[in-house]
Amino acid sequence: MSKVFSVAIDGPVGAGKSCVAKKVAERLNAAYLDTGAMYRAVGLYMLENGVSLEDGAAIAENAGKARVDVRYEGREQRTYLNGRDVTGELRRPEVSLASSAVAKVHAVREALVNRQRELARGISLVMDGRDIGTCVLTDATLKIFLTAAPEERARRRFRQMNGRGVQSFEDVLNDLIRRDRNDMSRAESPLRCAEDAVELDSTSLTEDEVVERIVSLLMERTGGERA
Ligand code: DC
Repeated sequence: MSKVFSVAIDGPVGAGKSCVAKKVAERLNAAYLDTGAMYRAVGLYMLENGVSLEDGAAIAENAGKARVDVRYEGREQRTYLNGRDVTGELRRPEVSLASSAVAKVHAVREALVNRQRELARGISLVMDGRDIGTCVLTDATLKIFLTAAPEERARRRFRQMNGRGVQSFEDVLNDLIRRDRNDMSRAESPLRCAEDAVELDSTSLTEDEVVERIVSLLMERTGGERA
């Protein structure tokens, strides 16, 4: 496909957004941006610097000190916090909760949304997050809202963590429900399905089936050849 396009994939924790987005990008030979990693890096900064996650004003005050960069090694996104590659630290459970806390803060969102738009300028890309279709890329070529039942999402997360098993299945499910609640109830860009998004429930679909649907939908929109 020669025309520049963008695909926005939003949805709750564990719906499979990042794996699906990565595969869609690969199929379409487009860039991929995991925006959650950027919120996680800011959350990590607050944890490392003893900023209370309950204190929105303190998070806002410190937000400017957390410089987040994204670079690529081949197709792999590496996320940097003040020049340090923190990619390997971002999936820790305490970082997950911290990311959800910082994501409520206007100053954090404003800085990261601006950076995400900059990164998207002029290139074909697939971006995943919570507010991509409703805020970051409101004119995306295709918007997907990817969901799945909470128990299924927790099962997938739990499976992913296998071997690094620091949490029980119940802990994973409870964290996920807590983060869903945070993400959907916050005043700043809450997680919701954009009016013009296609809602895809992946509970009983394989990852490849979801990828296939998204690629087909994009082809319909752009009138392109199948990748
Ligand atoms: O997708 P993830 O689990 O890596 O995201 C981490 C947190 O960041 C999650 O609690 C919601 C928040 N987030 C957001 O508010 N907006 C985005 N575009 C991406 C993530």
